[in-house]
Amino acid sequence: MCAQRTLTRKFALPLSRYYTKSVQASSDSRLASPKTVKPRRIVLTGFMGSGKSTLGPLLAARLGWSFIDVDDVIEAEAGTTIAEIFARHGEAAFRERERATIERLAAGDSLVLALGGGAIEHQATRTLLLTASGTLLVHLQVELATTLKRCRGTEQTRPILADHANLESRYLRRLPLYRMAHHSIHVDDLFPEQAVEKILSLFCLDCGQKNPS
Ligand code: S3P
Repeated sequence: MCAQRTLTRKFALPLSRYYTKSVQASSDSRLASPKTVKPRRIVLTGFMGSGKSTLGPLLAARLGWSFIDVDDVIEAEAGTTIAEIFARHGEAAFRERERATIERLAAGDSLVLALGGGAIEHQATRTLLLTASGTLLVHLQVELATTLKRCRGTEQTRPILADHANLESRYLRRLPLYRMAHHSIHVDDLFPEQAVEKILSLFCLDCGQKNPS
């Protein structure tokens, strides 16, 4: 879902309206991430409204890990909003700041990291997150219609969402990049807690212990 952000974001709908009760999750295992592998960090990627910033804290709490939202760090360090960074400096400047921030944060252990929706477009970021030892990249997959429903009313704080003319092409361009992640989970019809369970079961992360570090 479009997550709450202290400065700039608000839930467009109550939590319960983002997810229906039917569970239709599916996932694909693509890269070597067997259940015996114990990750030291989980990185959540996906289009706007996929729930990265909402699931992230829940997942981290289940694991006894920390949670960091990359966009929050960018805004705190810049002392301004992402929308302002886009408006003043352009998307390319934001992307470079985003890349450097992820590179720094992704070195942390016992960490759930939520990326901004466009971070996956940067090749260096993808390579880092797909190859770094102990890092598992999880794609929360949503239909574009889900993004539009969940993020309605947040265009002012989401410049990419506000760019209506290019939204669908961005979505389609990013989809194969997201799907390079170690796992993809369809989350359109999942409650946040259900998606968390799905992620935990993918990696057997809370099998037997609370805090695998
Ligand atoms: C963006 C998504 C936003 C934020 C920025 C750009 C994108 O994050 O990083 O507005 O390019 O899709 P969320 O995915 O958390 O909304």
